[in-house]
Amino acid sequence: MPPKVRKAVFPVAGLGTRFLPATKAMPKEMLTVVDKPIIQYAVEEAVKAGIEEFIFVTGRGKEAIENHFDRSYELEQTLLNRQKEELYDIVTNIIPASARIFYTRQGEALGLGHAVHCAKALIGNEPFAVLLPDDIIYSEGDNPLEEMINLYQDTGQSITLTMQVPEEHCHRYGIVDIEAQRGRAIVAKNFVEKPKENAPSNLACVGRYIFTPEIMNVLDKQKPGAGGEIQLTDAMTTLLKQQGFNAWVLDGRRFDCGDKAGMQKANFFFAMQRQEIKQELTEFIAELGYTKQLTKMDNAS
Ligand code: UTP
Repeated sequence: MPPKVRKAVFPVAGLGTRFLPATKAMPKEMLTVVDKPIIQYAVEEAVKAGIEEFIFVTGRGKEAIENHFDRSYELEQTLLNRQKEELYDIVTNIIPASARIFYTRQGEALGLGHAVHCAKALIGNEPFAVLLPDDIIYSEGDNPLEEMINLYQDTGQSITLTMQVPEEHCHRYGIVDIEAQRGRAIVAKNFVEKPKENAPSNLACVGRYIFTPEIMNVLDKQKPGAGGEIQLTDAMTTLLKQQGFNAWVLDGRRFDCGDKAGMQKANFFFAMQRQEIKQELTEFIAELGYTKQLTKMDNAS
């Protein structure tokens, strides 16, 4: 039986240029959706999936991430002194005390593949998960990362999470060429990066992966690809040829928080899940009357 997936890598060393100037002095991964930084959504998902070791690939100016997952004794004491027990629980339970946390640095943002490779020594000879914090995954059913780990336990092969996208959006993603499908489990034949036309399917790779440790050997030799960056997708294509590769189809939503519109959608969606603000937001949207205006514009065109 394949070894248990205990480790997860969180690449957080990117420059976050699409969110400048917000990301000039603040890591993109610390931008908030409602009241939590986006990195915390990914970490909570990994905790729920049974991950025990959390490996952050950081870079310059990312100290706020380390502080966020560290204890803050002064704040904790102040909250206790003011009898703010609920807030005390929130700040002390950001990550379970049993979690083992490691930080390693990517000296230069040379691409996602390069960032994952920076964790090689910490991964050793074990399978591991990769979670891109830009992608917030929401599912009303089972935790997709846990489902992927279960699929890995059955197959011993690497897995990418995928979601169905409209045909006209395929050119924005890495698309899976399907060899076989059983329910939500797919055997991949190939990955086609951002196909301009004739996409082999409408299944797009999104930011959750399970890798066998051999991906690190592939990344050892990986040359820069699109945009001059060391691309994770290029290494995945090589690994697919060596060991096979599977995909898991998401039953839920994915919010692309690396993108301005996606970030606002995530904020709205998760805010509407909060009973304490839902009513006020609903009233505000009705007051703005956007839907009425859009209907008028549609009718006029
Ligand atoms: P993105 O390509 O979406 O992030 O990488 P970016 O480069 O920071 O953002 P833009 O395009 O300039 O706005 C997805 C994840 O991979 C990390 C990022 O921090 C982000 O969490 N990443 C990316 C690295 O850690 N290192 C890299 O060299 C590139």
